[in-house]
Amino acid sequence: MITRRTALRAGVAATSIVGTGGMLLPVVNAATAGPRTTAAELDAAGITKFAQKMPLAPVLQPYLNTGSTSYYRMTLKEATKEIVPGLKTPLRTFNGSFPGPVIKAESGRRVVIKQTNSLAVPTSIHLHGAHVPQDSDGSPMDLIAAGGGTKTYTYPNTQPHANLWFHDHAHHMESENVFRGMTGTYLLTDNIERRLGLPSGQYDVPVSLRDARFLESGELIYQMGDFMKRNVILANGKSWPFFEVAARKYRFRLTNTSNQRFFGLRLADDSELVQIGTDGGLLPTPHRTNVVAISPGERADVVIDFSRYPVGTVIELHNNEIAPFESADVVGKVLQFRVTRTAQDNSVVPERLRTLPPLGEASVTRHFDMRMDEAPGGSAYINDKTYDMDRIDTEIAYGATEIWTVKNVNQIAPHNFHMHLVQFRVLERNGQPVTSGPETGLKDTVPLKPNETVKLQATFTGYRGTYVYHCHLFDHGAMGMMANMRIS
Ligand code: C2O
Ligand code: CU
Ligand code: CU
Repeated sequence: MITRRTALRAGVAATSIVGTGGMLLPVVNAATAGPRTTAAELDAAGITKFAQKMPLAPVLQPYLNTGSTSYYRMTLKEATKEIVPGLKTPLRTFNGSFPGPVIKAESGRRVVIKQTNSLAVPTSIHLHGAHVPQDSDGSPMDLIAAGGGTKTYTYPNTQPHANLWFHDHAHHMESENVFRGMTGTYLLTDNIERRLGLPSGQYDVPVSLRDARFLESGELIYQMGDFMKRNVILANGKSWPFFEVAARKYRFRLTNTSNQRFFGLRLADDSELVQIGTDGGLLPTPHRTNVVAISPGERADVVIDFSRYPVGTVIELHNNEIAPFESADVVGKVLQFRVTRTAQDNSVVPERLRTLPPLGEASVTRHFDMRMDEAPGGSAYINDKTYDMDRIDTEIAYGATEIWTVKNVNQIAPHNFHMHLVQFRVLERNGQPVTSGPETGLKDTVPLKPNETVKLQATFTGYRGTYVYHCHLFDHGAMGMMANMRIS
């Protein structure tokens, strides 16, 4: 029996629905509603945990550097990787890498990437969190044709340092394309960040976290809305890997690339995690905590000091954002750290990390309701409309500063809210001003549990054009929870 709480914590798409008039309608479990798979499904509980090394995502090198610009090429192609020990999994990848490549960019220096799509499906490559012109935004309708189409994206990098990532955004395809592997990391740095003396080089590690679901053959099973069955947790493209560390500070750039899974990350001994940054770069001051939460699409920049552990210590990173019907021994585990050596550590985490840009005075306020039909085959809406790529939902005057109140009006389903083009600020959550913690930074994606409301402020400047805002639970976006804003 799926309770409301269960569903709420699991990222539910559809288990029960409150009909008009408040009547509770029985609904088929979405997880069983999709097409039947013929081969047997791999039992996540049977996969040996912490049996493989967590790989590092490959850093992509430019093929050309000029005074102002770094030029890259990438090919979208099929590749087969060992994600679960002993099994081969066909994927859709950037350059055959899984985890996808890392691009290291600098504020004030352009990056130009030519993408060639050798896949059998159209794609659109979106740099999530980036401030870019519309024609390089990778919007849902700006497709690169399957079977050899190309497109060159230009990223001006005029924004401050930020933890960005890129992924497919082809309308109605992104959910499956991302599930099948199309993600990568884009770390934008600047002098503000560089001069702080944070852990760097081999001690600065991008980690992509997500879930997945497999056949015993190793093939992925993709079914929309079956998040409850995506029980294999991947860190950098391996199921439950281990990572060997020295007894010193490490910086982890965490990205939640899941379609629907929320993570609440905790060390097994509940010891300190120092969250130093979020989507749009560093927080003003470090946030010392024992749990770091990231919803799909969000990033967390976290320092862990392993010097508190003697060499030989093994410590697990757990996920406490699980539903009662889920197993803490399966989706409650993420990754295992093994402290294997000592190392010198000259890095620091300063008490002042950055000064945020001034907020400015808002001149426009708007309200957005996020809602989905909590039944299989239903739709999802922003202000009661499903996405229409030809309709402009919000007209914004160039240069305007606006306050957007966004509410999840669902009783069961969680959502989150992502805007293209801008990094925004979270002014309030559920009526309370946000004055401390991870939401004090620059954000592009915020979680919204059922009935939650956030008040966001953004300034729409830099580029004119049409951009989307949407729920970043990809299945919900594909069900219509997306809209267009036009800045002109
Ligand atoms: Cu990360 Cu519109 O997307
Ligand atoms: Cu985005
Ligand atoms: Cu949603």
